[in-house]
Amino acid sequence: MAAKRRPLIAGNWKMNGLKKDARSLAGGLASKMGRLKAKPAFEMLVCPPAPLLGPVLDATKGKGIAVGGQDCHANAAGAHTGDTSAALLKSMGCKYAIVGHSERRTDHGETDADVRGKAEAAQAAGLTAIVCIGETLKQREAGRTKAVNRKQLAGSLPNGANAKNTVIAYEPVWAIGTGKVATPEQAQEVHAFIRAELAKVVGAAEAAKMRILYGGSMKPSNAAELLALPDVDGGLIGGASLTVKDFWGIAQAV
Ligand code: PGA
Repeated sequence: MAAKRRPLIAGNWKMNGLKKDARSLAGGLASKMGRLKAKPAFEMLVCPPAPLLGPVLDATKGKGIAVGGQDCHANAAGAHTGDTSAALLKSMGCKYAIVGHSERRTDHGETDADVRGKAEAAQAAGLTAIVCIGETLKQREAGRTKAVNRKQLAGSLPNGANAKNTVIAYEPVWAIGTGKVATPEQAQEVHAFIRAELAKVVGAAEAAKMRILYGGSMKPSNAAELLALPDVDGGLIGGASLTVKDFWGIAQAV
């Protein structure tokens, strides 16, 4: 029995764009959304750098585009210079926070336990956490893909995870920003595996409702075949989320 999951098309702008770029990108998407005659089959999300949240929230207001943070701190407030709390994201009007992106795991040494703490903070603030996991090329070549994803998922999944407060993003590290995309077979295999692992924790019925996004060099030319896979429920898109044409093209592939 196939569950109905509304695909999430999520743009992770990473550390890209200036104020003027944010306005034109978010504004461009807003005008595309504004021209739709009916509620789209997909949900659209953009995650700009934190200082651009204000302009992006303004530009997308009332256009059916969700906005999210690229990270959040595990604590609700306090002496954490440079960090952003989930409660602040929520108060700005955000709906989502990405946590545990492989770039943060690498650049900032974030562990699974750190990621779980952030996901739980997001959940406590009323945000949906997008929890990222994925193996490196070395791990895949060593035949450890499932073991690595199982361990990251088990360690990073917030307590009380459900289809409303948690989205999983499977992002093979070797596919991020490399132009090397997972084949449909590779993506479906890991997505189905992740859903089966989720079922062990949250139960089969809830796992069937949870969205699992694919991330890693998704673009308009490969989006349709990835998004058509039974266990792929959207995309977390980096490079191709930086132009209206490409990001919209991916959304149209739903
Ligand atoms: P990419 O990035 O689409 O540029 O590969 C995806 C991501 O890191 O979320």
